[in-house]
Amino acid sequence: MDKIIVTSALPYANGPLHIGHIAGAYLPADIYVRFQKLLGADIIFVSGTDEHGAPISIKAESEGITPKEIVDRYHKNISESFKGLEIDFDNFSGTARPEHHEISQRFFLNLLKRGFVSKKEGKQWYDPKHNRFLADRYVEGICPFCGSPGARGDQCDSCGKLIDSLNLIEPRSKISGEIPILKETAHWYLELPKFTDELKNWLSTKKNWKDNVINFIMGWLKDGLKERAITRDIDWGVPVPLKEAEGKVLYVWFDAPIGYISSTIEWAKKIGDPERWKKYWLDPKTRLIHFLGKDNIPFHTIIWPAMLMEQELDYVLPDDVPANEYLNLEGQKMSTSRNWTVWVEDFLKNFSGEYLRYYLAANAPESKDSDFYWKEFQNQINNDLANVLGNLANRVFLFAKKYFDGRIDKESDFSDQTAEIIQRIGNDIIPITEAYQTYQVRKAIGLIIDIARFGNKYFDETKPWVTVKTDVIKAKETLYNCMNLLRIISITLFPVIPGSMRRLRKMMNLNVEFSLKDISVTEDYFQIGETEPLFSKVEDNLIENEIVKLKSASIDQSGLEHKAEISYDDFSKMEFRVVKILKADKIPKSGKLLKLTVDLGGEIRTVVAGIAKSYSPESMIGKQVAMLINLQPRNVMGIESQAMILAAHHGESLSVLVPDNEVPAGSEIS
Ligand code: 2FM
Ligand code: ZN
Repeated sequence: MDKIIVTSALPYANGPLHIGHIAGAYLPADIYVRFQKLLGADIIFVSGTDEHGAPISIKAESEGITPKEIVDRYHKNISESFKGLEIDFDNFSGTARPEHHEISQRFFLNLLKRGFVSKKEGKQWYDPKHNRFLADRYVEGICPFCGSPGARGDQCDSCGKLIDSLNLIEPRSKISGEIPILKETAHWYLELPKFTDELKNWLSTKKNWKDNVINFIMGWLKDGLKERAITRDIDWGVPVPLKEAEGKVLYVWFDAPIGYISSTIEWAKKIGDPERWKKYWLDPKTRLIHFLGKDNIPFHTIIWPAMLMEQELDYVLPDDVPANEYLNLEGQKMSTSRNWTVWVEDFLKNFSGEYLRYYLAANAPESKDSDFYWKEFQNQINNDLANVLGNLANRVFLFAKKYFDGRIDKESDFSDQTAEIIQRIGNDIIPITEAYQTYQVRKAIGLIIDIARFGNKYFDETKPWVTVKTDVIKAKETLYNCMNLLRIISITLFPVIPGSMRRLRKMMNLNVEFSLKDISVTEDYFQIGETEPLFSKVEDNLIENEIVKLKSASIDQSGLEHKAEISYDDFSKMEFRVVKILKADKIPKSGKLLKLTVDLGGEIRTVVAGIAKSYSPESMIGKQVAMLINLQPRNVMGIESQAMILAAHHGESLSVLVPDNEVPAGSEIS
């Protein structure tokens, strides 16, 4: 049997996981692996945390702790989120481990020995205040492509383009905020142009890759491959194994994918068969499948295969790279810096991980971007899982227990309808399996939920609550067929929501170890055991809380400082009115204040307003402005101020609020 290695892109160990990560690289892989395991495939699923790179050392510096402490914190945090979501790796390693360093150095030396890596002198940004080079994200500036400020030395978050930090406009050191200088340094480059033909030949055999992936690669190849620096002047990473390169480390994107191999090596050691990793990685028939989000496509389809091509061992090359598009949130691009996301650890505090699996799988960004909407999440769980599938199980189990002690035998005198149902479902199994095999989980789920829908309809139409009194065999037939549908669903939906499907099988006294072949088994009888509702509904208040939380967390990110909430009562105590300014005078010895005489609609008041820097006295005369008029009078520079003018503040300047149209003086504002 052919072997399969499935990998999920290594998450950076510098922050927790959010739902975008899960939808892109982890859930689709886990579902695929579970499906292949049902088929009986010889498959391993590996990943680990990506523990190097500038973002991690920058975070460590900002917290005043070591990168290792950051990495340990998030390795644990990320592993817990995976556990809560039943993302079940055979091994989940980390790239700061010694075995990983060792094999990464070998990768580098092999490429160097074979002439695919070469040393070049060049200039690099340098922070003279801190005496260090500024690799990648250590320098920020204006994006040379889109002009956005805050672009980082390696990439611009606004336009998504990869940047050569030397092209940044108005660069600044991230450490000191100073303008960096250019200084000579040596780096080692992967000679990608030398791989062009070999890569093109290899890629031309990939007929079944997803369109989005092929299009991406073609874009890269069309522009021509360029050599890429694979070393950096920082002190956190895999040391470059050369004397002359002391103090330099391998670029994080060079060592990260090697993590797939080092994680497999770690797995082999753990299972007590240290050489076993070779049976997967060095067998040309092994299918190596990399799951990832679209931003990782070039690294896995060009750079990583090139690295694998020139090693002393004959590593298998990627067989498929099913990259996913992006998941948006409530119609907007997800953004961790704006806190416009849903963190997995927060989600798991209030909801079952299975609900996230189901919703993300049913709306996966397989071929185009998709959206997470909290309301839609609630509706889909409540409809598909609670109202359709859960309801089918519930009504069938309760009925069987009430009238038949939970035991339903397959009787020889069931009608032709039973054979028809078996035939109908049999016809669905092929498209369901094909959909799973071709990473179209949305489609598989649609077909499976249709089986449950069909079950409910069949139950309604055959009315066992009537036939149980008139024709018991008929009633049993309905129940038997519905149970059979539930049994088939428990197998086919297992890759998506394994925990719930295991529970379903337990309630039906079916074995929890099973394979896809079991679909065609004919049970002589079903015996329902202890039951409980399969799914609980997602309540409105939980969803409303999430929406409020999301919106307020993202507003906080905008830097606005909010005051405590007030009641409507508090608000209604304030009396705002439009006043007409009759007179305006400078107040001697005060640069900021004007003394205003205002007409409140017959009543005249004196107001001291701090607007002199933005308005001359003459410009105020005759103006209508908004005022709070029941504020306690205050004495300002010897003058009693009897109301307060309303103005918008922007920096040093002020802009008084005026009504859109002329209104009678004294008009109330509410
Ligand atoms: O984009 C990322 O989150 C990277 N840490 C992915 C690395 S994938 C691989 F090559 F290891
Ligand atoms: Zn840009």
